[in-house]
Parts: sequence; C-alpha cells; structure tokens
Amino acid sequence: MAARADLYRQLASLLSPGSTARFDEPLSRHTTWGVGGPADLYVEPGSESDLLAALRFARLHQIRLRVIGSGSNLLVLDHGFRGIIVCLRHPCFRSIEPARDQLRCGAGAPLAAIVREAARARLGGLEFLEGIPGTVGGALRMNAGAMNRSFFDVLLRVRFMSLDGAVSEIAAAELQAGYRSCPFFETHIALSATLQAAPSPPETIRRLIALYRRRRQAQPAGRSAGCTFKNPGAISAGQLIDELGLKGARVGHAVVSTVHANFILNDGGATARDILALLDRIRSEVRSRRGIQLEPEVQIIGGEPAPAPMP
Ligand code: EPU
Repeated sequence: MAARADLYRQLASLLSPGSTARFDEPLSRHTTWGVGGPADLYVEPGSESDLLAALRFARLHQIRLRVIGSGSNLLVLDHGFRGIIVCLRHPCFRSIEPARDQLRCGAGAPLAAIVREAARARLGGLEFLEGIPGTVGGALRMNAGAMNRSFFDVLLRVRFMSLDGAVSEIAAAELQAGYRSCPFFETHIALSATLQAAPSPPETIRRLIALYRRRRQAQPAGRSAGCTFKNPGAISAGQLIDELGLKGARVGHAVVSTVHANFILNDGGATARDILALLDRIRSEVRSRRGIQLEPEVQIIGGEPAPAPMP
C-alpha cells in the first residue's frame, strides 16, 4: 500500500497547478445518489496535457483509471474505487461554442448548460436534453435520452483521447450506439462533441423546453440516479416494477420511489449496500413473477476493499 500511495503522490506531483488531485476522496461527493466510498486518487485535470499525463501514468503502472461525469448514473460501492478517478469538470473541458447551426461542447459540459446556451444562440433541436442530468461525456457513454430522442440523434462528431494518449476525431456515423450504450467510450475518453442544431424562433425553443420540463413532473425529486433499470423491450421497467406493487419497497435508506417505480431514492444516509440489495430484490421479484431479467441502467463501479496497511 505504501508503494501504491507513493505512486499516487508521484502522479499528483506531475500535474500542473491548474489541476486538482485529492487522495482518498469520498465518491459520495461526486454521485447524485450521494453514496460511494473513497477513490485512491481523484483528479480534475486542468488541461488536456494533464489528462494525458494521468492516462500515461496509469497505463505505465497498470493502475485502473476511470473517467466520471456528474455521477448521475453511477453506483459507487461502499469500499470505493482502487485506482484513479478522473473528472473533467475544469472549465477547460466545459466550454460550449455555438456556431451557425452547430454547438461544440466540452465533455464536462452539463446538458442543462447546453440547453441554456443553445437557447441563447437561438438554436433549436436540443430542447429534449432539458431535465436529463449529466454531462456530455456521460451522455455519449450512455447514449442518454428522453421521450424517444437520444444523444446520438443530434451528434455529428466527437474529439477523443485513446488510452495511449492519441487525440483524434470520429464522425458519429462511425460509432455504434444502442439503447443507453456506446461501447466505444468504454475505452476512449471523449474530449468534446459537436452537436447538430438549427436556427429556431425563441418562442418555439421556450415552448419545447417547457414541454420537456413537464415530463419531470412524472419523475421524483430527491437523490437518485435517474432510471435504475433499462426498459426490457417494449414494456417500461417502471411500469413493471409498479405492477408488482414495489413502490415504497425499502432496504435501509434506499427506497423505490412512489412517483416513478424505476427510480430508487436515497432518503437520507443510504449506503451502496442498501441500494444494491434493493436492486437485487427488484430483479429477483421481476424474474420470478414475470420471467423478465432486468438489467441495470446505472453503472456499478468499485467495491474492492483497500489492502491492509503494510506491517
Ligand atoms: N409507469 C407506471 N408506473 C411507474 C412509472 C411508469 O405505470 O411507476 C408507466 C407510465 O405511466 C408510462 C410508462 O410506464 O405509461 C412509461 O413511463 P415513462 O414515460 O416515465 O418512461 P420510462 O420508459 O419509464 C424512459 C427513460 C427515462 C426518460 C423517460 C421519458 C429508460 C430506462 N427511461 O422512462 O430516462 O426520462 O423515458 O422520456 O429508458 C434515465 O434514463 O435515467 C431516464 C429516467
């Protein structure tokens, strides 16, 4: 462990002052569920070259590295994450630049900010992103969506870094994205995305944003990770869980929302263990009573206990 801690310190010392590096950072601070143990090292690179340095270092020393967005679709287990968590929340990764009929957005830009900036530039077509939590990086990885529209519907191209540090650009048409997934971003780090938009009258944009905002009324406020399970085919996971009478089911402080059954809320002090146990209970009830295997939409990470201190 001491050798490992030295390695982390070595990496932290390689980063420029614009970067943030923290040891044993509680990931509960970086997930919307508000649960999750510590990451050995948490880095917010202040530049692409610092991101590159972290990536190269992790590769050289075979340390796990994972990039997170706003943690809105993440269940970090209570033991935390053995390795390096990178978060692209520094302003240099959050720029949003409207052009004639496009927006170029940094991977760390929140979707809410994109909706705002597009409206300010009188560009329409991105209103459906209203109310979807998360950042561009997360939306690419998850092919986020709402109301039958998904991120890849408006994606033109992505600038990305490969795990060997090479930076290039890829057209959306060359990427394979499915329902709530784009495997390419499991092994490539998005740096920015260019989105298609179209000039639109401000009142039309306002009306559409209001329409998408209303959909939120069917979803609960409070600490959750949005929809917990993917919809299994045509039927909604929420409806399925609801029909089994599981609204309000609880393990510790994790509870199935009474507003939308595919949302699990942390109603104060839940652990990842509570949430995981509730997930398992829902899955096993749906399997045994309806013969359907639900797959989590949320990404589950971490869980390996920290090694014992060296004698
Ligand atoms: N329903 C119930 N009970 C519930 C929840 C839903 O009967 O507790 C019924 C609704 O009345 C409706 C149907 O199920 O007839 C579908 O519900 P909803 O419109 O809420 O859509 P969904 O399929 O549950 C999907 C996305 C959401 C997205 C909404 C709205 C998935 C897993 N979920 O939910 O995305 O916001 O459509 O577009 O694809 C997310 O990805 O995190 C997420 C929340």
